[in-house]
Amino acid sequence: MSDKTSKVSIVGAGAVGSTLAYAGLMRGFARTVALYDINTAKVEAEALDLAQGIQFMPEATVLGSSDIGVVEGSDVVVITAGAKQQPGQTRMDLAGATIGLMDKVLPPLLEVAPNAIYILVTNPVDVVTYAAIKKSGMDPSRMFGSGTALDTSRLRHQIADYCDIAVGNVHAYIAGEHGDSEVALWSSATIGGQPLVDWRGRDGEVVMTPEVRERIHHDVMRSAYTIIEGKGATNYAVGAAGARIVEAVLGDQRRIMPVSTLIDYPGVGEVCMSLPAVIGRNGIEHQAATPMDDEEKAALEASARSIKETANRFGV
Ligand code: LAC
Repeated sequence: MSDKTSKVSIVGAGAVGSTLAYAGLMRGFARTVALYDINTAKVEAEALDLAQGIQFMPEATVLGSSDIGVVEGSDVVVITAGAKQQPGQTRMDLAGATIGLMDKVLPPLLEVAPNAIYILVTNPVDVVTYAAIKKSGMDPSRMFGSGTALDTSRLRHQIADYCDIAVGNVHAYIAGEHGDSEVALWSSATIGGQPLVDWRGRDGEVVMTPEVRERIHHDVMRSAYTIIEGKGATNYAVGAAGARIVEAVLGDQRRIMPVSTLIDYPGVGEVCMSLPAVIGRNGIEHQAATPMDDEEKAALEASARSIKETANRFGV
């Protein structure tokens, strides 16, 4: 739960934005939730539909408007608006359209909500976060992307499901790009406080063999493609992840989550990518020093290079 005066604005009332609003309202993450979208009918309808369920949620006021003024005075602004990933498209394929969108949407947002913490969800989130920081001049600790918080949730779910244990007992991170080059940090992963690689099943057998880990990593990385093929978009898990990030900020929870933040990567240069960070009222409070083995370090550098290459290609 967050304090009783906080305001969150969500830019983009599409599937992700409205689901994030719903997930957050169900958890009482803010006293006021404002939806902003250029589509007046859509944003007003989403806000009305959400507001009519407030009796079943922690008390909150829900606003919806195509007037940017609805964002006025927000403590947190979440940007979900952007091009929709089509079946077969990579997230990086969306870069041109969404970087251009940042040019349009950021200046008026910063005017009405200059003191907000900004969370980018729009894909390709790493490149978009980097573009937003450069275009806005914002302090990078107060403008970051949802990054691999979603992928980490997918990884933990897959591990818990495979090992038949509660997901709350799995601590494992996906780092790097929220996308095809993402990296599973197996060497620091634990189950019930013991190294994941040592976890044994009921018959004492090693469960998370290299082959199982490889398959789980692949399935996690391909999740969005699989879901988009089946239902046209993803929204529930990304909406829940975004709502949890907002809650960590407004509740000053000091929650450790892998979010996309500005890093000067040795040998690559400045890039936004996900590493576990402590999230609180000031946004990214500080980076968690997550240990990695040589293979993970090499994969992370490759991921940084992939993100940087796309950013350079679009002149960011
Ligand atoms: C996904 C989108 C949000 O991974 O990139 O579901």
